[in-house]
Amino acid sequence: MELRIDRRALVPVVQQIVDALTCWIRCHDPAPGTRLLSVRKIAHINLLSQSCVFEACERLVAQGVLASRHAGGYVVATPASNSAEQQDASFCQLPLGGGGLPESWRESDDLAYAIREVSRTDMAGLFNYSSPLGLPALRQQILKGLKPLDINVEDSQILTTAGASQGLDLIVRTLLKPGDCVVVESPGYPMLFDLLRLHGVSMLEVARTPSGPDIAALEALLRRWRPRGMFINSFHHNPTGSSLAPAVAQRVLQLAREHGVQVIEDDVYADLNCGPGKRLAALDDSVIYVGSYSKTLSSSLRIGFVAASSEVIARLARVKMICSMGTSGFCESVLARLLANGAYRKLVQRQQQRLNRDRQAVLQLLEDADWEVFAKPASGLFIWARSRVADYDQVHRQARRFGVLLSSTTAFGPSGPVDEWQRINVACACDPRARAFFQATAPDRPQAF
Ligand SMILES: Cc1ncc(COP(=O)(O)O)c(C=O)c1O
Repeated sequence: MELRIDRRALVPVVQQIVDALTCWIRCHDPAPGTRLLSVRKIAHINLLSQSCVFEACERLVAQGVLASRHAGGYVVATPASNSAEQQDASFCQLPLGGGGLPESWRESDDLAYAIREVSRTDMAGLFNYSSPLGLPALRQQILKGLKPLDINVEDSQILTTAGASQGLDLIVRTLLKPGDCVVVESPGYPMLFDLLRLHGVSMLEVARTPSGPDIAALEALLRRWRPRGMFINSFHHNPTGSSLAPAVAQRVLQLAREHGVQVIEDDVYADLNCGPGKRLAALDDSVIYVGSYSKTLSSSLRIGFVAASSEVIARLARVKMICSMGTSGFCESVLARLLANGAYRKLVQRQQQRLNRDRQAVLQLLEDADWEVFAKPASGLFIWARSRVADYDQVHRQARRFGVLLSSTTAFGPSGPVDEWQRINVACACDPRARAFFQATAPDRPQAF
């Protein structure tokens, strides 16, 4: 009974044991009364302390999953009810289709230290409005971080925002008006579609291929509709995990110049990238570039930024002040410290390493279960895949069975569902619940359905 406990995870070990044991019971479906391995054996096999395993078993007794025997040891309990919802409620669900790193991957020590430092030493950061462009110390750090990507901008070309979301919102509010049309990728980022709808901007869909937007389709759209802008999630695309190939990037920019289209490059997953790759903004300085620290450090601090020409940044900054009186100086000061002292760089290195290791394992799992993979990503958070054998209902039934939350199938299409493709979050996909789910959809297990 291998439980695959991750000691570096923030989720307490006892909770991980609870989840793994619950998953094991779901996978093997033992009859009520079946005796579990002894606490001592489970602890021995998994290099755990007996007290942790004991504590986890007691919690499962409290949840009605296990029953304790007078003679010692635990057996599988007789379910009080067969209702699927009740069983699900006792099982912590795994966000396999989720869009960010799970809580268990987040690291809080350096962040907590920086927060204490700022609280003690930076009274302005604690109490005052920040400046319209954002905290100068942070903008300097962002500028430095863009240099390795060959995006060479000056101080006046960076605007901090409350996450990439505010960056996108400011761009739409300031540079577009109701009735305009823009190109978006399909599948793509659902909140962008909602934002454009909110502002009365129409969308022209271009299919995302494994190497970027479909160039022939893009050219046809630009010729026919003369859109104002084009939103591209260039690297580690949400949801497909694919990245722009250099030739596609060049062609996108060529077409944008020919047709007078403003390119907006959304690169919120940039720091999860450890490979090469030229950004559109590095190839053409008219591109508006949007970045974020939500995916690596914290989605809660709400820090993102826009890099663009000084003129565009000045216009966005005016609207930023009208709409929000600026961003949080406190959060920006905390991030500026983490960037300056190297803690952020080390954090993303660890995340990249972990993702690289897990991605290989997940790709193997998908291959074993006969899932088709849209593009085999070399870095980043997502894999876009669909089962070749299990249909939509079967996949969803197995997901419910193993406590796996899939992404919504309707969300990623600007105008409707995107077949049975699933966004697989690599950081969740090595969890025992995900493994069991993939295995249950494999062709050599027809009895699972
Ligand atoms: C492609 C894309 N753009 C923008 C965002 C918004 O990011 P933030 O949390 O920085 O607002 C997300 C978040 O999931 C995203 O996936």
